[in-house]
Amino acid sequence: MKIVRTIADASGLVTHDGTVGLVPTMGAFHEGHLALFRAARAENDLVVASLFVNPAQFAANEDLDTYPRDEQRDSKTAEEAGVDLLFAPETGELYPPGFQTWVEVEELGSRLEGERRPGHFRGVATICLKLFNIVRPDRAYFGQKDAQQVAVVKRMVRDLDLEVAIRVVPTVRDADGLALSSRNAYLSPKERELALALPRALATKDAAQARARLNGLDVDYVEVADFEPRVLAAALRVGKTRLIDNVVLDKEAQ
Ligand code: PAJ
Repeated sequence: MKIVRTIADASGLVTHDGTVGLVPTMGAFHEGHLALFRAARAENDLVVASLFVNPAQFAANEDLDTYPRDEQRDSKTAEEAGVDLLFAPETGELYPPGFQTWVEVEELGSRLEGERRPGHFRGVATICLKLFNIVRPDRAYFGQKDAQQVAVVKRMVRDLDLEVAIRVVPTVRDADGLALSSRNAYLSPKERELALALPRALATKDAAQARARLNGLDVDYVEVADFEPRVLAAALRVGKTRLIDNVVLDKEAQ
């Protein structure tokens, strides 16, 4: 696996004589990321992963500075999962001085997560478009764990006539049901126990029942959202950690 830091090296080393799969990530790899790498490996000639903690999708009060970073471990994990090229740029490479162009997916990006995290999906859409332009993948891989992110990226692809196919990989969970997330590392054992209420509530697949089960906890929202497929999505704060999760409601789409 090659590791590259510049846009020129990334786009220069991506060959287009076969198919190219891109997996955008912010690192701190776990089995969820590995599922995306494996899905990309299974159907492409070249697998590219990006590792970039994108400051544009973090609000000022969020965890940009403390977001878990371990490039050495991540590059080993990515290589073992079959990634051919890891694009791990510095912030200034993607946001040089004077940067001022943004992609806003207006309605989809302003509800639920977008309402609680203003500017988040503008940052996500913009970095994804930049990565799509740099790597020019045939397919890009995203996790169902972030259902609204998938909806926003798919909408952008349609609205801006991008040629990339968006592939969605089911949410990978720990044995106890908690969806894997880089942010789970922040949870103390006691907080983790509390966090389990989230997947248990969502497993009811019913908004009212889920709300009842989460009663007394610090819930941001529990909502049914039509992200094609329809999901029951929720966000919960446990201590200083904010967790999101969702379950797909339309059986045929699972
Ligand atoms: P990150 O949180 O690193 O996630 C990278 C990809 O892994 C996303 O598509 C996410 O949905 C997927 N993923 C995370 N946890 C998962 C799980 N438990 N099961 C399945 N897939 C999972 O999402 C981002 O980074 C960023 O917003 C990014 C798209 C890279 C743009 O900066």
